[in-house]
Amino acid sequence: MIGSGGREHALLLGLDRDPSVTELHAAPGNAGTGSVATNHPVDVASADAVVALARELAADLVVIGPEVPLVLGVADALREAGFDTFGPSAQAAQIEGSKAFAKDVMAAAGVRTARAEIVDNPAELDAALDRFGPTWVVKDDGLAAGKGVVVTPDRAAARAHAADCLEHGHPVLLESFLDGPEVSLFCLVDGETVVPLLPAQDHKRVGDGDAGPNTGGMGAYTPLPWLPAAMVDRIVDEVCKPVAAELVNRGTPFSGLLYAGLAIGAEGPAVVEFNCRFGDPETQAVLDMLESPLGEALAATARGTLADLPPLRWHDGAAVVVVLAAENYPGRPRTGDPITGANAEGVLHAGTAVGAAGEVLSAGGRVLSVVGRGADLKAARAQAYDRLGQVKLAGSHFRTDIGKAAEDGRISL
Ligand code: GLY
Repeated sequence: MIGSGGREHALLLGLDRDPSVTELHAAPGNAGTGSVATNHPVDVASADAVVALARELAADLVVIGPEVPLVLGVADALREAGFDTFGPSAQAAQIEGSKAFAKDVMAAAGVRTARAEIVDNPAELDAALDRFGPTWVVKDDGLAAGKGVVVTPDRAAARAHAADCLEHGHPVLLESFLDGPEVSLFCLVDGETVVPLLPAQDHKRVGDGDAGPNTGGMGAYTPLPWLPAAMVDRIVDEVCKPVAAELVNRGTPFSGLLYAGLAIGAEGPAVVEFNCRFGDPETQAVLDMLESPLGEALAATARGTLADLPPLRWHDGAAVVVVLAAENYPGRPRTGDPITGANAEGVLHAGTAVGAAGEVLSAGGRVLSVVGRGADLKAARAQAYDRLGQVKLAGSHFRTDIGKAAEDGRISL
C-alpha cells in the first residue's frame, strides 16, 4: 500500500479482512497503519524507491493510494518491473492531473461538465457573459488562479469582477454553474469494464452548515438516501463508461479507481471533476460498508479480470466518517500534540506519528477520521460521534453535522 492517509489506513483494514491476504506492507504509512501492516519509510514520489521495495517484499499486488505517485508514473514503473499494480498509468492519471485533458476527454465522450471559456479581450466580454448564466462563475485566470472566484446570479456583479480582472491584465475563465447536490462515485475501472462502489457525499467546508473555507474533506456518508439507484446507473452509463471507453480509444486505458465528482442537477449528472484514485474521507465510509473481499476486487482490477469479478456485496445500513482536524486547519496546523484514544475501534489515522515513548502524536492537518456504521444514517452518525467523543487532541475541531441534512431529509433532487 503506497500512501499515508486515512484512505490508505481504510484500504489496509479492508485488505486485512480479506482471507486471501497473507501479509500487508505500507509505504510510508502512519502511526495507525503500523498496527495492521509493516511500515517502510519510502519516498512515494520515487518510482525507483517504490519498485525496489516491491522487489524486496516480492509483492503480489501493489496498491497506490494518492494521486502524486500516479501522475508521476509510479504505476508504469511497477508494471514494467512485472508487478500487479492497482492504479492508472501516468497518461490515464491526467484525468485528474490536467484540467484541459479531462475537459477534452469529456467533450469527446459526450459527458456533461461545466462549460468553460477564456476571455482575454474586454471587447468580447459581454457576448461571452451572454453565453453563460443566469448564475455566473467568473474566475481570475491570471496570477490569482484558484482565488478570485465569484459565483453570482447578478450579471452586473459578474461583469464587474470580470472587467476588473481584465483591467489588471488577467484573462478571465467563465464556467457554467453546476447546480444540485454533490455526489462522489468511485468506480473500479479496467479498460471498458466499470464497477461502481456505493455513492457517497463529502463535506468540503471546514464548518457546520458548510461555513468557512474549503478543506480536503471534513467527513462523508454513504449510501445517499436521496439518490435513487437509477441515478447511479445513469452516472455509470452517461459518465464513467463513456470516459473509460474514450481512454481506451486514445490508447491510454484506465486501470484503477476512477472517482467521478458530480453535481446532480435538473438535467441529470454533470462532472465537477475527476480524480484518478480513491477519495479521502469518502473511502473510509464506503469500504466500511463493503462485504466482499477487497483484495480480490483490487487484484482483479490490476490483473485485467474485473469483468469476471462476482457482483460486489454490501452491508445493509449506512456508514459515516467524521474527520478530526488539528487546531488552525485548513491553515497551518498545530502538530506534535499527544492524542488519547487514537487506537480505538473505528479510528483511522492520517496525520499521526509515533513519539519517542510510543505515544501517538498529531502530525498533520487532518489528523484522523472516525467511522460509524449502523442500521441507518442516524445510527451510523450516533456511533461515529460516540467514538469520536473518546478521542482527545488539544485544540482539535470537527464538524458536528456530517450526514445530518440527509438524515433530516433536507436533500432532494
Ligand atoms: N474527498 C475529496 C478528495 O478526495 O479529493
